Amino acid sequence: MKILKTISEVKEYIKPLKLKDQIIGFVPTMGALHDGHIALGEEARYECDCLIYSIFVNPTQFGPNEDLDKYPRDLDGDIAKLEAIDVDAVFIPDRSVIYPENYKTYVKVDELGNILCGKSRVDHFQGVTTVVSKLFNIVQCDEAYFGKKDIQQFIILKKMVEDLNMPVKMISVDTVREDDGLAKSSRNTYLSADERAAAPVLYRSMVTAKKNIDLYFSPEELIEDVHTMISMEPLAKIEYIELRRYNDLSEVEDLSEEGILLILAVRFGTTRLIDNMLLR
Ligand code: PAJ
Repeated sequence: MKILKTISEVKEYIKPLKLKDQIIGFVPTMGALHDGHIALGEEARYECDCLIYSIFVNPTQFGPNEDLDKYPRDLDGDIAKLEAIDVDAVFIPDRSVIYPENYKTYVKVDELGNILCGKSRVDHFQGVTTVVSKLFNIVQCDEAYFGKKDIQQFIILKKMVEDLNMPVKMISVDTVREDDGLAKSSRNTYLSADERAAAPVLYRSMVTAKKNIDLYFSPEELIEDVHTMISMEPLAKIEYIELRRYNDLSEVEDLSEEGILLILAVRFGTTRLIDNMLLR
């Protein structure tokens, strides 16, 4: 597996691939890789001639009081995991490669970045869209793979690709979970033993809502029930529970609609977990 650190190294690496019309698949990550990150590459491996990952803890998507400095890092472990699934190259830029001094340009998707997680994480999605558009320009991928676990991120990035006519096919991959249903996340390592034991309530409540969707008269009633279920765990502090349409995150008016997404953010101590499930 090739380790690429600079933009010119990436350019050199992809030049012969482009000449041969090879399909480049790309998986952007912030490292501390787990089975969820690896599932993206396993799916890409089938579809693409060349598979490239990036590992970059992107400072512009962290707020001033967020976990940029303590974000988990495990470069040696990451490289071993990528080699095990036959990744062709990994781009690991320094901060100054992506954001040189006097950097000024940001990409922002209106409205979609201000709802759900965007309410408490101001500028977060602008940081994501900025870094992903830069990575797309550098890697020149044909296809890019993202997790459904971060569904708002995927929908925003898809809108960016559509609006800016980027020649990238956007593919989303199912959420990989622990045996007890907790979605795998680099941030799960922050949970104390008690918080870890409480966290699967998110999955259980979403499964129950999905099973019972036909019993509710209104979106509000369903949300109220999920609220009650999650609140039974005293360590869970709910930030939001919402129903949104899967294609564009617009608000659901009627539970008989297709493509209804239950989407939530809940804190356990200082750790904020997000998850979602398609109810129909
Ligand atoms: P990161 O949190 O490292 O996640 C990288 C990719 O892995 C994202 O597409 C995310 O949705 C996916 N992923 C994370 N947990 C998953 C799980 N349990 N199952 C399936 N996929 C999962 O998301 C980011 O990094 C950054 O915002 C990034 C897009 C790299 C831009 O900096």
